[in-house]
Amino acid sequence: MRASATACSNIAFIKYWGKRDFDWNLPLNDSISMNLSAAVTTTTVEWDPALRQDEIYLEGERVLDDRGLRVSRYLDRIRADWYRMYARVASVNSFPAGTGIASSASGFAALASAALGAFGEDLPSEVEMTRWARRGSGSACRSIQGGFVEWTAGDDDESSFSQQFCPPDHWDLTDLVVLVSRSPKAISSSQGHRIASGHPFMAERQKLLPARILALKGALAQRDFQVFGEIVEHEAMEVQGIMLSGEPSALYLQPGTVSLLHAVRSWREEDGLPVYFTLDAGPNVHILCESKDAPELRRRIDKLAPRAEILENRAGPGARLHDDHLF
Ligand code: DP6
Repeated sequence: MRASATACSNIAFIKYWGKRDFDWNLPLNDSISMNLSAAVTTTTVEWDPALRQDEIYLEGERVLDDRGLRVSRYLDRIRADWYRMYARVASVNSFPAGTGIASSASGFAALASAALGAFGEDLPSEVEMTRWARRGSGSACRSIQGGFVEWTAGDDDESSFSQQFCPPDHWDLTDLVVLVSRSPKAISSSQGHRIASGHPFMAERQKLLPARILALKGALAQRDFQVFGEIVEHEAMEVQGIMLSGEPSALYLQPGTVSLLHAVRSWREEDGLPVYFTLDAGPNVHILCESKDAPELRRRIDKLAPRAEILENRAGPGARLHDDHLF
C-alpha cells in the first residue's frame, strides 16, 4: 500500500487571498494560475497497519512539529473516508527550503495523489482530486492539473474545485522567480487570509474581479502578452495593497523586492522589453515574459542582483503517480 507522486507548485495570476471557510479552504473568489515546472515536490506514502501513529519525514528529517501535525490532520480526513490506518510519509522539494516558494501547493497536491494512490484503487476523477488537494491547502487545488488552471470558488466543499483552462504547451511563458530573501515571514499565509477576509477593501475587490478574470482568460486564450501582463501586475499590486493596509499590516516586500519591481518597469517602459511581474505573500519577485525573452532578462537580473538565486519555470505538468519511491 505504497505510492509516490510528483506535483508542481503554481503561481497565481488572479490571487486566492481571503477565505469564506477556514476548515475547508473555501476561497472568497475564483483564481487562475500557471504550474511552475522547476518548483516540484515528490512524496511517497505508505499505509501500514503495523504503525501506531503517522511517521512524517520532510527533506529526510522526521518532523514532530506543526508541519507534521498539519499532514497528520490531513491524513485524518482521508482516513475518515477510506481505511483507518496510519501512514509513513516522505516528501522532498526540488527547490531550496525556506525560500518562500509556495511548497504547500506542490506539497498537498503530491500528498493527496500519493495518499489516495497508495490504496491501490483507481484514483478519484481529476476534479475530485482537486477538491482533495484543496482540503490540505487552498492553492494546491490548482496543482493537480497541468498548465493554466482556474479554481472555481464555489460555495461549499462540493462546488469548489479546479479545471484546466489551457494545457502547458498552449503558450511558451517563463516565470523567472528571483529569490530575494530567506528570512521567515512575519505573517503566515493562514494569518494573512484571516486578516484579508475582514479587510474593508475586500468587498470592493470582489466586485472588480469577475470582469478582470474574464479579461485575463481572453488574454490567455489569445496569447496577448501585453493585456495579460497589465492585468497580472495590477492584480499583484491590488493584493499587496490589501496586505500592506491590513490590521496587522503584512509588509512582505524587502528592499531587494522593490528594486526589482522598479527595474522591471524601467526595462518595459524605457527599453521596450515585454516583461511584467507578480508577487505572492513573500519577498520573491516572479518576473513574467515570453520564453524568447528569458535569456536577456536573466542577464539583466544577474547584473542587478548578482547573488540572487533564480528559478526558471515554464508552464508545468499536472500531478502524476510514478514508481520512483523515496523509501
Ligand atoms: C498568496 O494556499 O498557502 O499564494 O489554503 O491556508 O494553505 P492555505 O493558503 P495558501 O495561500 C496562497 C496564497 C497566495 C495566492 C495564491 O496562490 O492564489
